[in-house]
Amino acid sequence: MPDKTTALAIAGVTLMALAAPAIAGQKLGEAQAIRTPETIYAKTCGYCHGRNVGPIILGRGLPAESVKYIVRHGQNGMPAFRPTEVKPEELEALAAWVEKSEARKGEHGQ
Ligand code: HEC
Repeated sequence: MPDKTTALAIAGVTLMALAAPAIAGQKLGEAQAIRTPETIYAKTCGYCHGRNVGPIILGRGLPAESVKYIVRHGQNGMPAFRPTEVKPEELEALAAWVEKSEARKGEHGQ
């Protein structure tokens, strides 16, 4: 049997080994944090919408349910977005945000 000090040292090393991946996982989680609807619109949707490529979608009261459907399935010239690209919880918030959004001056539809 190891003495008390050795046993404590072993326990400490074991704990550190267990904690390291957890800490790494936390960092990874932070990098993949949930983005706000504003950010997703600016980085993804606004690439086309509001810039002559797609129709205007803000300020039209488009129902959140149809926004969600179109984002997941695509529609004609619009690509579908997978859950790895727009997470389910992000899409939920984005669709509600689009429905309630105000029209933006300076945006141009197709
Ligand atoms: C590559 C360009 C592109 C991107 C990126 C894109 N869209 Fe679209 N979207 C389109 C086009 C083009 C249409 C028109 C499709 C058609 O003709 O039926 C469309 C249609 C739509 C419609 C239906 C509008 C209507 O008048 O009924 C919604 C809602 C929509 N997009 C939401 C989104 C959201 C939300 C995002 C971001 C996650 C997004 N789109 C990203 C090109 C794009």
